[in-house]
Amino acid sequence: MRLKDKVAIVTGAASGIGAATALAMAREGAHVLVVDVNEAGAKATVEQIEKAGGQAAAARADVTRAADNQAVVERATAQWGRLDVFYANAGVPQWKMDLEDVDEKTFDQIFSVNVKGVWLGAKYALPVMKRQRRGLFLITASTAAIRPRPGGQTYAASKGAVVTLTKALALEAAPHGVRVVAIAPVATHTPMLPTFMSKKEVDAESLAQYVATVPLGRLNQPQDIAETAVFLASDAAAMITGSCIEVDGGRCI
Ligand SMILES: NC(=O)c1ccc[n+]([C@@H]2O[C@H](COP(=O)([O-])OP(=O)(O)OC[C@H]3O[C@@H](n4cnc5c(N)ncnc54)[C@H](O)[C@@H]3O)[C@@H](O)[C@H]2O)c1
Repeated sequence: MRLKDKVAIVTGAASGIGAATALAMAREGAHVLVVDVNEAGAKATVEQIEKAGGQAAAARADVTRAADNQAVVERATAQWGRLDVFYANAGVPQWKMDLEDVDEKTFDQIFSVNVKGVWLGAKYALPVMKRQRRGLFLITASTAAIRPRPGGQTYAASKGAVVTLTKALALEAAPHGVRVVAIAPVATHTPMLPTFMSKKEVDAESLAQYVATVPLGRLNQPQDIAETAVFLASDAAAMITGSCIEVDGGRCI
């Protein structure tokens, strides 16, 4: 077990990448606090973890709120005694459209969840990790941060911001033995996928068009990111910090 007795918080873990990662980390022996604004979904992830013999608890939190971030960090450390991993994964997508059609409210919502939500998670998790002199603060960015495509400028800019935040925080955390890493997934089969394609549901034609841009010839499954997150959280990744790891089948080449 690669994460035996480690303590992890995963945000956005009611669904998609977060749920798959919470399950994978628990399978590797971690105690996982499953965090989401969708409390029923978070509880469903915990049920799956427990059915598989793992240890987890659910917490409702809105990552855009400072008090919620503080509360989940306090809850995990009170329940399990420390904090080894904070995976700031919760995020919201953007419907494909040119900038002139994006309203200010949409900008504020995307930046509030995708940037401020991550910033707040770091603000409360890093001091605990620095005191422990160990830990990983992990962030879900996107290939949109590296290779933006037309019609996704607001989302791309939010993910670009957290890639830079990853590097800046890695420098602050390194003297304390703490690592900060981002993962940049290409399009992934989760409930978020149709929004990126500006469709209510993913249809075969849009999927084929997207897949054709990925050299390895498929999109991610949530499990592809979960496996990367487990590796980054393990001792095998001890020299990786400040990086943005592309999990993209070659899409960004
Ligand atoms: N699916 C993709 O194609 C793709 C590609 C690259 C990056 N990403 C990123 O991966 C991350 C996970 O997305 P996913 O694809 O698993 O989508 P998803 O919709 O399945 O999961 C996102 C989760 O975040 C939660 N959430 C949203 N706002 C929140 C808030 N304010 N507080 C707490 N929880 C909140 C949602 O309730 C949901 O459970 C996001 O950061 C997303 O931007 C997704």
